[in-house]
Amino acid sequence: MLANKTIVLGITGSIAAYKAAELASKLTQAGARVEVVMTESATKFIAPLTLRSLTGRLVVTSMWELNSEFSIEHIALAEAADILAIVPATANIIAKLAAGISDDMLCCTVLATKAPVILAPAMHADMFQNSITQENLAKLKARGFTIVDPAYGRLASGKMGLGRLAEVEEIIGTIKQVLGKSGDLAGKRIVVTAGGTQEPIDPVRHIGNRSSGKMGYAVAEAARDRGAEVKLIAAPTSLSEPAGIEVIHIKTAIQMNEAVAKATAQADGLIMAAAVSDYQPKSVAKAKIKKKESPSLTLELIRTPDILTEVKGNFLKVGFAAESEDVVANAKQKLEKKKLDLIVANDITDASSGFGADTNKVSLIDRNGNVDSLPLLTKREVADRILDRVVELLAKKARR
Ligand code: C5P
Repeated sequence: MLANKTIVLGITGSIAAYKAAELASKLTQAGARVEVVMTESATKFIAPLTLRSLTGRLVVTSMWELNSEFSIEHIALAEAADILAIVPATANIIAKLAAGISDDMLCCTVLATKAPVILAPAMHADMFQNSITQENLAKLKARGFTIVDPAYGRLASGKMGLGRLAEVEEIIGTIKQVLGKSGDLAGKRIVVTAGGTQEPIDPVRHIGNRSSGKMGYAVAEAARDRGAEVKLIAAPTSLSEPAGIEVIHIKTAIQMNEAVAKATAQADGLIMAAAVSDYQPKSVAKAKIKKKESPSLTLELIRTPDILTEVKGNFLKVGFAAESEDVVANAKQKLEKKKLDLIVANDITDASSGFGADTNKVSLIDRNGNVDSLPLLTKREVADRILDRVVELLAKKARR
């Protein structure tokens, strides 16, 4: 989604400026045209040549030096932008923007653009928490600027505090979210589940499964990038929190059931990519179960709720079917039984597919019995193919 987008990357004078180089590089690699505008103080921290080399474009450092096609007419840069991101944003640029000052190329570009603006502040914690900075940020937020909040951690002063530049991946996630606001899922509320539930046996053990959560996270991120308001109900995974998505962390099937019921009270669609345990121990031992002489131990298991079958509401329901035999036939049965609009079936015996892999080979089966068998794709590509069908099915539902 970043391909062929013009991203104006404003860099201001903070020690975190070097991280803007990584951002510029990743955005360029994703196919975006990155136009860098640096303030004079930013050039003290990082060389314009670095950004020029990473983006393959001339870098604007002054309104008066003719070193860019945009130098003469700054309005052209403001007009060309699909999005403007200031990374890092110092207290100074935040104050100047809040006051409407336009004494350098970056301020002029922000004032002149109609494109959305993202600010990723980075500064000493005391400067960030100062009520002047907070008031300025609130003012900019109210005007529609998106703020990527700084993180807590070690600051350049050596002290710990809130002021570290957000992670580059989080900034990219926010850029995608903002760019996607006019996507084909704009205004839709989508609930996604991901990961494998864990059913406790005793305080240290649980019944789990091998789901990595990658498929569900990919669906959630793709929905976000297409403009949806996404709630992700996640069982434990090792994946990092995606930007622009409300993540609800749960562990057990019962907790997931409750979270799904709550989140879908106002939803247009539910996509259940989670591997929900079908059984849970009948009782959870209060203390750690000790090893005994007996060669066997019996655990009594009881059924967990079938979330997809139990959930109530007139929203679109998409399920997954991880099968090891008769994939399509078994998935069709599940679609009927769980009254789904669409089921995503995959053969988990295939190593390139399913648990833990970055790729997946699935068939999409709808209520009319149409079977669309997709080739081996990345999980993100699979996510987008599922969402193509979700968009189509939501439109059909609206016409009914
Ligand atoms: O019946 P099976 O577990 O194969 O169905 C898979 C689909 O049902 C998945 O979408 C999964 O998230 C969902 N599921 C559920 N509640 C369960 C078990 C599975 O919603 N207890």
